[in-house]
Amino acid sequence: MEQDIKIKITDREGITHEVMAPTDMAMNLMEVVRSYELAPEGTIGTCGGMAMCASCQCYIINGNELLSEMEDEEEAMLSEAFYVKENSRLSCQIPITADLEGLEVELAPEV
Ligand code: FES
Repeated sequence: MEQDIKIKITDREGITHEVMAPTDMAMNLMEVVRSYELAPEGTIGTCGGMAMCASCQCYIINGNELLSEMEDEEEAMLSEAFYVKENSRLSCQIPITADLEGLEVELAPEV
């Protein structure tokens, strides 16, 4: 589909998957990871995408400039999460839009 964008997601085992994500379904990146089952059920998206659990943390490997700034909730959650790095984001706070073509992320370790 032409509304799909290509995203590279490296799972917690270090395997990189190139996936197609739809831009017309109001999905966020956490939901894409779940829909492709790139992390075991129950280990990602625990709070349902409310920026309240950090289970969906990922590291932005490429394409940080494509993302919008963090909202306060995301920043607050990341300030108390584990394994946080400079390039950490909460994938549930990244809506899938056509601008994100080529984004590359790596899932943070399970907490
Ligand atoms: S799913 Fe809980 S913070 Fe993203």
